[in-house]
Amino acid sequence: MKLSPSILTCDFAHLEDELRFVEQSGADMVHLDVMDGVFVPNLSFGPPVIARIRPCTDLMFDVHLMMEYPDRLIDAFADAGADLINFHIESAAPVEETIARIRAKGKKVALTLKPKTPAEAVFPYLPLLDMVLVMTVEPGFGGQSFMADMLPKITAIRAEAARIGHPLDIQVDGGIGAKTAALVADAGATVAVVGSALFNAEDPKALADYVHSCERS
Ligand code: DX5
Ligand code: ZN
Repeated sequence: MKLSPSILTCDFAHLEDELRFVEQSGADMVHLDVMDGVFVPNLSFGPPVIARIRPCTDLMFDVHLMMEYPDRLIDAFADAGADLINFHIESAAPVEETIARIRAKGKKVALTLKPKTPAEAVFPYLPLLDMVLVMTVEPGFGGQSFMADMLPKITAIRAEAARIGHPLDIQVDGGIGAKTAALVADAGATVAVVGSALFNAEDPKALADYVHSCERS
């Protein structure tokens, strides 16, 4: 799997240093968790912070919008330096229009599913997407426990993408680390978001190497 470290649990007083840490771990991209205090019961950061850290790294910015109205700020996130814009199917945004808006800005597009949303909800949109994010915790906070009952959802989306012949990344987010990376890879995930497990790891490079080594058997 590819590795997309979430900086949600990093030291926000030293963002540039934390991005260097993410680079040195061997990450493929960096996962930026945007929370609006409405769609999820927490607040994080938005376009101004993303714009300020954009010059600090060449890593791809994988922006996860946990927002009720992500459609209102697509241009702002794209202009701030997002490379991939990921919004929730459960948000109030019109899905196809929002995907088209992200494409018009020349960015990659992903849709995210909360744990209670079934795999089938995303099937009509698969041909329009670069990636689907299957949340493996309820969104809002880092450091929660992985929900193993999300594994069949990953398998179902992987099977549908194969059936329609569409190349699709499947990302997993929440509670991913040394104990869970192999499980999600085997179910069909290709991109792992790793937050607290990486920032708390004794040997972050070893954890990153392990995540990279996990693939579908
Ligand atoms: C949760 C966020 C995640 C979170 C992952 O709402 O979307 O990206 O930061 O953190 P860990 O890996 O600690 O579960
Ligand atoms: Zn996330």
